[in-house]
Amino acid sequence: MIDVGSPDVPPEIESVVMSEQAISERVRELAAQVDADYAGREILLVGVLKGAVMFMADLARALRTPVSMEFMAVSSYGSSTSSSGVVRILKDLDREIADKHVLVVEDIIDSGLTLSWLLRNMRSRGPASVEVVALMRKPDAAKIEVPVKYVGFDIANEFVVGYGLDYAERYRDLPFVGLLRPEVYTV
Ligand code: IMP
Ligand code: MG
Repeated sequence: MIDVGSPDVPPEIESVVMSEQAISERVRELAAQVDADYAGREILLVGVLKGAVMFMADLARALRTPVSMEFMAVSSYGSSTSSSGVVRILKDLDREIADKHVLVVEDIIDSGLTLSWLLRNMRSRGPASVEVVALMRKPDAAKIEVPVKYVGFDIANEFVVGYGLDYAERYRDLPFVGLLRPEVYTV
């Protein structure tokens, strides 16, 4: 396992929150749960770009249920470390989702505002069902009523990067999730 101080961890990372191995084990568990729940059905995975890309790729390969994949890109107005809930579609789905079993794949739920908007948007398109799988959830997510059926990890209210998550478009490529040193994003 890699550790802070190893050449594989950039110096801006304060600590490793979830190792590559911990993520991979949890993704397998989530996939097994989803497989059990969707037995006999097909799933349309809807990944939210760009943060969910790594999680979506690993989850899709861990699932035994047949899936198709769609991506959506949304932008939430706000600062780079918090969101406002005012959402703009940057890239919409390529297909209709009517009568499909949609599973929205999210990297992390913080205020839940982005997801809450997204779920309303998905439901308005007439899918057979809509559920959410999120790799991580922060404590504030409890403030807003967003039904998230599958959660990988409940984490502390700190800014994390890696495994798809960025700060200013960096660190998405890290194979683990790490805590970014606050001095990187505060002045
Ligand atoms: P929400 O609308 O506040 O739930 O924001 C969710 C989105 O904010 C996520 O999909 C991420 O793109 C981003 N986000 C929230 N917390 C973090 C974090 O700790 N690191 C990186 N991105 C984050
Ligand atoms: Mg995101």
